Amino acid sequence: MPLEILPMSGHLGAEIRGADLAKLDDAVFAEIHQAFLDHAVIVFRDQTLGHEDQIAFGRRFGELDVHPIAVGMDQHPEMIRVLKPAGERASFGTSWHSDNTFFEKPSMASILYGVTLPPYGGDTLWASTEKAYETLSPGMKKVVDDLVAVHSARSAYDPRVTGEAKYRGEAAIQYRHSDIIDEEVEHPLIRTHPETGRRGIFVNPMFTLRIAGFGAAESEALLHFLYDHVTRPEFTCRLRWQPGTVAMWDNRATQHYAIDDYEGFERVMYRVTVQGDRPR
Ligand code: SIN
Repeated sequence: MPLEILPMSGHLGAEIRGADLAKLDDAVFAEIHQAFLDHAVIVFRDQTLGHEDQIAFGRRFGELDVHPIAVGMDQHPEMIRVLKPAGERASFGTSWHSDNTFFEKPSMASILYGVTLPPYGGDTLWASTEKAYETLSPGMKKVVDDLVAVHSARSAYDPRVTGEAKYRGEAAIQYRHSDIIDEEVEHPLIRTHPETGRRGIFVNPMFTLRIAGFGAAESEALLHFLYDHVTRPEFTCRLRWQPGTVAMWDNRATQHYAIDDYEGFERVMYRVTVQGDRPR
């Protein structure tokens, strides 16, 4: 049976029906891989995945990252338990970003499996950085095409910025100190997707510090224009999670935002990220 592929919005995302991610043959995997490239965000409902199953699914796409700061699970260092207990104030992923753009080789894809979800709230939003690039004017494309941006983990993870609490074990997700927090890495502001050839805007408010060679005010103005443009509602899709939902997204073509609007409820997800290449 071919998979059923149902678009989630006009420009981004598809729900895929008919696949059991714990039991994939090569033919079904090839269809899923193609849908991932076509839609950039793919969603599966009603999955039952052990940690090994989720890791094995991720490894079909490539090696997995071990996050240098957010501590992975004891038996599975490549898997982060994205846990927010009821009443906890610390949040994870609550601003627009692509995962780990402060790496020299930012994560190619992320796979998030929802296990315990609030009865309402806790949705995730994605935005298409490629549709955003495509809809820039020719004049703006000329301005941004050859620029380089500087990324770092500082604003998201430096305890001098975020406070020490999550490094002291006072939040459900544990953090460890890493030298990477003091490092900066340069990436092209417009990257070309290595598999589809499409171009996309590759800056985000969580990890991008500035545009190389620009004054602070110039950099801030242009970055803010780009952030607003990428996240126009027309370029987004939104997922309402249920227990057993899996979402996989292409960090080379999207940004995402975890909505933190479920104060009185617990939310438990498991995340792995697939290693990427150096953006070009
Ligand atoms: C993330 O940013 O990877 C987490 C997304 C979410 O929890 O919805």
